[in-house]
Amino acid sequence: MAPMTRSRAPERIPTELMAEYYSQRASAGLIFSEGTQVSPQGIGYVFTPGIHTEIQIAAWQKVTSKVHEKGGLIFCQLWHVGRVSHPAFHNGELPVAPSAIAFQGQAFTLQGPKDTVTPRALRIEEIKTIVDDFKKAAQSAKTAGFDGVEIHGANGYLPAQFLEDGSNQRNDAYGGTVEKRARFILELTDAAIAVWGPERVSVRLSPRNPYNGMSDSEPEKTYLYLIKKLQERKLGILHFMEPAELPNNKEAMLPEVRKLYSGLLIINSGYNKQSAEAVIQAGLADAVSFGSLFIANPDLPERFAKDASLASPDKATLYGGGVKGYSDYPKLGG
Ligand SMILES: Cc1cc2nc3c(=O)[nH]c(=O)nc-3n(C[C@H](O)[C@H](O)[C@H](O)COP(=O)(O)O)c2cc1C
Repeated sequence: MAPMTRSRAPERIPTELMAEYYSQRASAGLIFSEGTQVSPQGIGYVFTPGIHTEIQIAAWQKVTSKVHEKGGLIFCQLWHVGRVSHPAFHNGELPVAPSAIAFQGQAFTLQGPKDTVTPRALRIEEIKTIVDDFKKAAQSAKTAGFDGVEIHGANGYLPAQFLEDGSNQRNDAYGGTVEKRARFILELTDAAIAVWGPERVSVRLSPRNPYNGMSDSEPEKTYLYLIKKLQERKLGILHFMEPAELPNNKEAMLPEVRKLYSGLLIINSGYNKQSAEAVIQAGLADAVSFGSLFIANPDLPERFAKDASLASPDKATLYGGGVKGYSDYPKLGG
């Protein structure tokens, strides 16, 4: 099950309801938790949970034990949104990023949608603090009973902002060449590996995804370099996002990624049962993660096995709210 923010932690503390929701989906085998902020600075959305206080860690313990009771595994997705935030989340202070480069978008705050602002460029010593926050969060995920951690390096959040040259125009140790732009995410990966060992660490990447204003002048070069470095570290899981159906003018990167990376390669984005079986049979990936399909089908593997019909999620209850459109989707025959 792919990571999905559902914004049901009003106090930013995981709830009993979240434990129920995740345990209903334990048959996924491996669940990636929703994006979970490593620090207050990492916040960019309402009602998303964190893993940086004792109360949050204790509350996550209830989630992980319920998933384990049902025979599932769960990784914690470690998240820092960087510039995809708003002063409303930071007592009026600017969000942080590799460079002071804005993107056109909106932040969804308690006061409603607000235009994004130009972020403040991080000082080098602050970058070290963020790496340390990820390390602490990786340790806290262990205390909370998770089975591993995933660095959220996809979808235009802070690690991707460092990696891609559209958002990183630094000319110090963290910007300029591809080696320097990749340094931040590799330091986060090393921090997680120091806690978990390489097998229990996943890195999520989404090359060529313009979401959150992202762009890179040479995405293939950038990402294949990074993946080579992840392979050198014997990273356990590469959670690679590339749409199952690419536009005609784009060639898939997945075959190249498969050649470079020998760990567990999980592919995601727009897959269904048929296309998932095809990509695995072609030897291009070891597993497929499903996001949207798990929202309204808590027993998705059973439905796939039985070729049963699939329910569609209610878009109005994706983010925020309570039971409705979250933990009330029935199982087959339920
Ligand atoms: C409601 C919702 C919330 C999401 N939140 C996250 C998130 O917190 N972290 C993340 O990496 N991806 C997130 N995604 C992206 C999904 O993990 C997945 O990549 C995307 O839905 C495409 O896969 P699918 O076609 O199987 O749904 C989210 C997607 C949805 C629909």
